[in-house]
Amino acid sequence: MIRPRRLRGSSKLREMVAETSLLPQHLIQPVFVREGLTEPREIAGMPGVLQHTEDSYLEYLDELVLAKVPSVMFFAVPEVRDELGTEAYHPNGILSRVVRLARERFGDQLVIIADLCLDEFTSHGHCGVLDDHGAVDNDATLELYCKMAEVLAKAGAHMLGTSGMMDGQVGAIRKALDSAGCIDVGILAYAAKYASAFYGPFRNAVESELAGDRKTYQQDYRNRKESLLEVELDIEQGADIVMIKPALSYLDIVSEVSKISSVPVAAYVVSGEYAMVEAAAAAGFIDRLPAIFEMLYSVRRAGAQIICTYWALEIAREIEKRTP
Ligand code: PBG
Repeated sequence: MIRPRRLRGSSKLREMVAETSLLPQHLIQPVFVREGLTEPREIAGMPGVLQHTEDSYLEYLDELVLAKVPSVMFFAVPEVRDELGTEAYHPNGILSRVVRLARERFGDQLVIIADLCLDEFTSHGHCGVLDDHGAVDNDATLELYCKMAEVLAKAGAHMLGTSGMMDGQVGAIRKALDSAGCIDVGILAYAAKYASAFYGPFRNAVESELAGDRKTYQQDYRNRKESLLEVELDIEQGADIVMIKPALSYLDIVSEVSKISSVPVAAYVVSGEYAMVEAAAAAGFIDRLPAIFEMLYSVRRAGAQIICTYWALEIAREIEKRTP
C-alpha cells in the first residue's frame, strides 16, 4: 500500500515537506491616515484597524519595520472632497504629506506604496471624474491620475498602487512618471480588480460617499478570461507587479495569473474578508489565528508571491515568535 500518511507523522516531518511558506517578507500592510484627526480611531467592521492621525501612523511604521514587514500601502482620507478629487493631486494634499514624511523618516527601510485613485477624494465617491451624463470618464480621469502619479512620486513613493481600473492607466502613468524623470518609481497594478461586495468595510475606512456601484469599471465576478486580458495589458503597459483583488473568492484567478505572469503577482485580502474572520472569531465560531494562517497560506499556495493584508503586522510578529 502507498501510505501518504507517512509524511504527516510529526511536525518536523510536515515542516520538511511543506510546499508553501509564509514569511514577513511576503506581506504588505495597508495603512489609513485621516486628515484632521486628533486621536486614532477604529474603523467600523474592521476591529483592530485604525484610521491614523498624521502623527500616529509614523509610530505604527516603526512597528512594521521592527516586525520586518517590508512594505506599507497608504490610503488617505481628506477633510474636503470635490467633483474632481483635487486634493488627490495637490502637492501638499494629505496623501503626499503622508508619503513625504514616511519617506523622510524611513528612507528605503520600507517599500512605500501610495494608492493611486480618486475615490477617497471625490465628492461622488467614484474612482474617476464624471462626464456630463454622470458616467465615469476614462480618458479625462487618466489625465488626473498622471498628475497624481507625479505628485506622489515626487513626495517619495517607491511604488504607486493603481487601483482605479481605468483602461490604459498603467501606460499613461508610466509615461507620465518617465517624462517627470521618476523612472525608478514602480507601478503595482491592480490588474484584475473585481466589483465586489467584500469592499464594504473599506468604504467606512475612507468614509466613501459613493452611491451606486463601480460595475462600469471594475470587473464582473462571473468572468475569468477577462482577468488574463487585464493582466496582459498591464504588463505590456509597464506594470512592475500585478495584483488580484479580492483574494479569497478569486484564488482561481490568482492561480491562473501566476502561471502566465512574467512579473511578480500579489493578491489583496480585502476589508470584507478581514471582517468575516474577525466577526466569526469574535462570536466564537472559529479559532482566529489558525483561520488567518490557513487563509494567508491559501493565497500563497494559489501562487501569489505578495499578500496585501490588514493582518500583516500581527502575522509577521506571530511568524517571528514561532520561528525557533
Ligand atoms: C479604491 C479601492 C477600494 C479598495 C482599495 N482601493 C474600494 C473599491 O474599489 O471600492 C478596497 C480595499 C478593501 O476592501 O480592503 N481605490
